[in-house]
Amino acid sequence: MNNIKRIAVFTSGGDAPGMNAAVRAVVRTAIYHDLHVYGIIGGYDGMIKGNIKRLEIGDVANIIQRGGTMLKTARSSEFMTIEGRKQAYENLVANDIDACVAIGGNGTYKGADVFGKEFDFPMVGIPGTIDNDIYGTDYTIGFDTAINTAIEAVDKIRDTADSHNRLFFVEVMGRHSGFIALHTGIGSGAGGIFIPEVNNSIEDLIHDLRKASRRQKLFNLIIVAEGNQNGDATTIAQRVKESNPEYDVRVTIIGHLQRGGSPTAMDRVLASRMGHSAVLTVLRGDGGVALGVINDKIIVTPFEDAVNKTKHLNKELLKMAEVLAM
Ligand code: F6P
Repeated sequence: MNNIKRIAVFTSGGDAPGMNAAVRAVVRTAIYHDLHVYGIIGGYDGMIKGNIKRLEIGDVANIIQRGGTMLKTARSSEFMTIEGRKQAYENLVANDIDACVAIGGNGTYKGADVFGKEFDFPMVGIPGTIDNDIYGTDYTIGFDTAINTAIEAVDKIRDTADSHNRLFFVEVMGRHSGFIALHTGIGSGAGGIFIPEVNNSIEDLIHDLRKASRRQKLFNLIIVAEGNQNGDATTIAQRVKESNPEYDVRVTIIGHLQRGGSPTAMDRVLASRMGHSAVLTVLRGDGGVALGVINDKIIVTPFEDAVNKTKHLNKELLKMAEVLAM
């Protein structure tokens, strides 16, 4: 055991369903271990502004089922400056905070890594992002909810696509990664998936669509990751329409719907496990690490690896998606 008496928790970057469940687990585990626990409101911006408040058990009641984050969130450009980080550090010291739990994605981890090293301050990360693009964990909090939301949307689009014999391009989020698109595509039985990690060709897609229509497949669904190499869903749809004017083409961008909503059971359990482990990690005296789940075991990875190493898509899933999309 070390001398940790007060910890703070915050959420940062894009919100993700399950962040509240993680905050709840941090707060309750900390109190169980006789720590005082504080919430920083608005991520790194709140740290710079000193927007820090004590949290008690009751403050995190009735939030496990809620999407968004009760602690608010932001993407802070000021925290990228040494002046901003110095101000943030002074505010933590003024509140006698001994360690922080940071819940967020890649940008959050980068900030935590730099800050932790600069001020020799214990920071522990919890991966909260719908993108699932964090090295050192099989799943990030929010990913499962986001793909369930996306699949539900695509199921609905399928009904109308089928009725009208239309070709739909459905754009999903994921920033520079294709995890959301790949899982949504497999789970919704899409006819094609465009992702950043693969150099998909529009010509190949057109060829496959023609083959499908020859065997009387009259409607189709193509999932497009926002970060894919061919442009957004509208651009790809236009190029397909130009070479096949007979296709009745439509585009749907699911957008921020994927970021909201009540977290799935999987995200709630994962967030609870990670929030709980984050406090135990702090109590063990480990700082500068991010939590992850690998083969259903909670593990830690140094921030340096989590931010610099790339998490790769499962190649077998990719291959399988191609086979099933025929
Ligand atoms: O990182 C989560 C994410 O939803 C990405 O998938 C997307 O590219 C981005 O955030 C959108 O950011 P914002 O909400 O700032 O528009």
